[in-house]
This record gives sequence, C-alpha cells and structure tokens, in this order.
Amino acid sequence: MTTTAETAAGTRLHDPAVRGFASDNYSGVHPEILAALAAANGGHQVSYGEDEYTARLQEVLEDHFGPGIESFPVFNGTGANVLSLQSLLPRWGAVVCASTAHINMDENGAPERVGGIKLLHVPTPDGKLTPELIDREAWGWGDEHRAQPLAVSITQTTELGTCYTPEEVRAIADHAHSKGMKLHMDGARLANAAAHLQVPLRAFTRDAGVDILSFGGTKNGLLFGEVVVALNPEAAHGLVYLRKMNMQLASKMRFMSAQFIALLEGDLWLRSASHANAMAARLRAAVDTIDGVQPTQKTESNGVFAVLPAGVADRLRESFRFYDWNEAAREVRWMCSFDTTEEDIDAFAAAIRHELGADGRHPAS
Ligand SMILES: Cc1ncc(COP(=O)(O)O)c(C=O)c1O
Repeated sequence: MTTTAETAAGTRLHDPAVRGFASDNYSGVHPEILAALAAANGGHQVSYGEDEYTARLQEVLEDHFGPGIESFPVFNGTGANVLSLQSLLPRWGAVVCASTAHINMDENGAPERVGGIKLLHVPTPDGKLTPELIDREAWGWGDEHRAQPLAVSITQTTELGTCYTPEEVRAIADHAHSKGMKLHMDGARLANAAAHLQVPLRAFTRDAGVDILSFGGTKNGLLFGEVVVALNPEAAHGLVYLRKMNMQLASKMRFMSAQFIALLEGDLWLRSASHANAMAARLRAAVDTIDGVQPTQKTESNGVFAVLPAGVADRLRESFRFYDWNEAAREVRWMCSFDTTEEDIDAFAAAIRHELGADGRHPAS
C-alpha cells in the first residue's frame, strides 16, 4: 500500500506514459511552464497582482493585442467568462450564445447563478453563431418583460472544434455593435484558432471587433490560469472589483502571470497549439479511411468528433479514455494535447480499425 510518506517522498500515483483523448485538460504542465514557475519562486513579491510578473504580462499582452488593453489574470475559464460578461452588462442584460457554448452547457449555470445573467441560446449546426442566428434571440429591446440582449458571446475555437475566420468574427462584431450589443469571445482554445488560421492573435480578436476576451492557458500547457483581456476597455466596467467579488483574485498572482509570460513571450503558445492541432489532423486523416467512423464536424483545431457504431466506443474505452459528446447519437469527442504523440494517434487509430474489423481481423479477436 502506498503511504503518505511514500508519496511525500515522490512516489508516482499514475503512469506518466499513459495518455488518452478525453480532454486537453487531462495533460500535465508543459516543462517550460514548470521551469518558469520555478524561476518565479523565491524571495518576496507584492501580492494580489502588484508584482513584477503581472506588470510584465501586461506588456506581453500588449505586444500581441496592441496598446490600450487591460488584463486581469484569473484562476479558471468559468470565472473568466462570468467576469467578462458581468463587466459588459447591466443587471437586466442578457447574452446571446450558441446552445453548445460552454457558458450554457458546462458551467453549471454559473453565468446565471453567479453572474445573474440571462443566456439566450441558439441551436447551431457547428457551434458557430452568425448574424442571422443571433437575430433569432436579439430582439425585444425596450420591452420590460424581456431580458435585454446586450451582448453576444462566441467561442473560438468552438466547443465542436470549428473555427471562426477573422471575417466571420468581424461580421458578428459589426452586427452586434449595430444593435448596441457588445461582443465577448471565450478563447479557452484561442491559440488553437491562431494555429489553424495562421494569423496573429489580434487578427480575429481585437482587429475583428471583439470587446472582451477570456484567454485560455490551462488547455495549452499551463498548470492553471486564464486571463481576461479587455480589448476595448470602454465597453467593460468594474473588472478590478468584479474579479475579487467573483473569487477570482489570486493573492500569489505572480505564479499565474509567470506562466502566461512563458507561454506568450516567445512561441510556446503557437508551438503547443500547432502540435495539438496536427495530432487531431493526423487522427482525422486516419479515421477518414475507416468505414464505420462518421466524422460530424470539420477538424479545425485539436478535437475530432465522430459517430461510431453501437458498442464500439465502450470497447475502445477499455484501453483509451475519451468522452461521449452526444450519447443518444453515439457521437464521441477525441481531444489532442500539446503532449499527444504520433505514436499515441497511430495506436488509437489501429485500435479503432481493429474494433471495426477494418484491419482484416475479426473485431472480437
Ligand atoms: C470552451 C470552454 N470555455 C471555458 C472553459 C474553461 O473551463 P474551466 O472553468 O474548467 O477552466 C472550457 C473548459 O473545458 C471550455 O472548453
């Protein structure tokens, strides 16, 4: 039996060679991030963000997004989203989002319960809003009986692994702004979008009219941490107070900021995201050759979505972890990370091929 003393002495409780396709959150911390954490350690720094690292992070973010932005490191993506949306809206405000949006599906109602914000969600085929889809819920201004649609939230890349082009974001921003609505982007996988689009981060954010951004780090190799970036600070109110109210103000903020500096100062953000995307592309290319696997979305980031014949997902899961996306439709989601290897993909593709009898052997053998 493993004792506390043994674990304290460094006994591993897991096999670091085992990786699956469940989530980019299942991966560990990128070694360059761990090194940055160690380098930021020691000595004393002012707490609550008045430290040298958080000041430097603001400069690094300005290098990406241009001068005049404001940045607020926070603990997690749900907090970043709630904080961002609260800063855009009065008490009577509502947010138009896709039905599949993380804020709608996967935050346990935090925008509503913690943020006090009504979500008006619209079904989409691919996780992407358009001006036409926004208009299904963007109405009723001045009607005291209706929560007022005053913001739009889009996710880049989307929860379905698809990616908005800069032009698509611009069309949404112009449409929202023309109706007096502000635009939030949930960028939990923002780096994967830049890697896919092969443009700078600001091309599809600030330059495309996004007002506020939840910029993700955890899924791209950080231990923890996201940063709210007010790209148009005039649109966002009270972020400094809202962060504390929402329990997202870290006392030892230097360690969050040091991670983001390591991610964004050089090209680590792009290297890691490009690699994760390339692994998903490799998996997609492999399953495209297997009869019985039906991909459901374009593979434009680090996830592959597909429908499998009955029973196949559970048999595969005996060896590889991954989640159902839509259990009723037998649709699954396979996610790749910065540390997914070509061998991981090839082994998984071989297992899928074997399960579907596409390798010439009987599936049950
Ligand atoms: C699209 C999206 N937004 C935000 C988040 C952040 O969530 P968390 O609060 O778990 O950091 C996630 C994580 O799964 C996500 O996929």
